[in-house]
Amino acid sequence: MSPTILQIPVSRLRVGMYLHKLGGSWLDHPFLRNSFLLEDPKDLQRIIASGIQSVWIDTARGLGLDGPEASAPSPAADDEPDGRANASTTAGLTEAEREEIAQDRMPERFRQPMQSAGPVALHAEIERAREICLSGKQQVMALFGELRLGNSIEPESVLPLVEEMQASVLRNPSALISVARLKTHDDYTYLHSVAVAALMLALARQLGLDPVQTKMAGCGGLMHDLGKAFMPLEILNKPGRLTDEEFAVMKTHPAAGARALQEAGAEAGVIDIALHHHERMDGRGYPHGLRGEEISLLARMGAICDVYDAVTSVRAYKAPWDPAGAMREMARWEGHFDKRIFNAFVKTVGIYPIGALVRLASEHLAVVAEQSSESLLKPKVRVFYSLRRKEKVLVHTLDLADPACQDSIVGPENPEKWGFTNLEALWL
Ligand SMILES: [Fe+2]
Repeated sequence: MSPTILQIPVSRLRVGMYLHKLGGSWLDHPFLRNSFLLEDPKDLQRIIASGIQSVWIDTARGLGLDGPEASAPSPAADDEPDGRANASTTAGLTEAEREEIAQDRMPERFRQPMQSAGPVALHAEIERAREICLSGKQQVMALFGELRLGNSIEPESVLPLVEEMQASVLRNPSALISVARLKTHDDYTYLHSVAVAALMLALARQLGLDPVQTKMAGCGGLMHDLGKAFMPLEILNKPGRLTDEEFAVMKTHPAAGARALQEAGAEAGVIDIALHHHERMDGRGYPHGLRGEEISLLARMGAICDVYDAVTSVRAYKAPWDPAGAMREMARWEGHFDKRIFNAFVKTVGIYPIGALVRLASEHLAVVAEQSSESLLKPKVRVFYSLRRKEKVLVHTLDLADPACQDSIVGPENPEKWGFTNLEALWL
């Protein structure tokens, strides 16, 4: 089989090609992802304007070049920039598809869903996501158990689980992260690890990280808090605020976890997430008070996923924040998170994440049931309460992205304030 990944100069890039990789670091270019189907002529202009010299395309997933470069990777392609209008890039297309491309529209078979939606509907993935959460929780419990007994662990033992989680995230990024958010305070420590891993994998996908980094993000998410196995149970399970002395003890968990992972021969990226997931961009985090770029990309991702899941989960001493309120609050925190990664995180989880309670312009309350591929502000919601009549209404689904829909979200609402319980029943 001939290779499908070709390096080409940017001058030969066309709408309809699948970008496998952009030259340079992902921080240097204007896209959150490194690989995507180039559908919008404006994106092509942005790539040209960014000064990137060459890109890699995947001809199995989009249009290819026609000519000698088409059959083999061409490291020399950079040396022969070529501005010719490449009519032959449309070889292999039907007449109708050529016509569509000429009008800057993407033929149907090259279209792909946006990041917020996967190829499988949410409800179809929920059951598998539940099973993954259950088996994830058991595996994390087993790791904690081994460490508490003073035994060593095998970090690579979680790889099949991480691969399963990644496959779920690719089928539908919302299912696993939504299910993993639901936990009781009893299983918090273990399910929190599963939730952070799910968020890390979905965020890695949004950022277009390569497979090695993605795997590291998932494994690191799963094992980021292993150091808590060494914390005294009376502090770990204390129902209430920690004293300064207790907090000082808890602050040793990143180093304790990193040490255990190091001894077990874990990958450097995984150890780094365990050690630095409590660092802050402004240098006010722990254990090392690192600042900005001193904190690795994976650890900066870990900090965001860790906090989001912690604040939206039930704990012994506090009610969970509603997911949309948590997103809004976290966006306001100065100096805590890497803003660029946080923006990608918002695109991953949604401004109004699944399960969020929202107030509609029509004076109704609704729960977010599915993200929209059209807009982060226009998810599908399940309407269940009339604010005017102050009573429940027959539950119905509203697609806010539907051009025919007149309603819109005014803002998030706190379920605590309303005393609603079991809102999950509306979207699960
Ligand atoms: Fe932690």
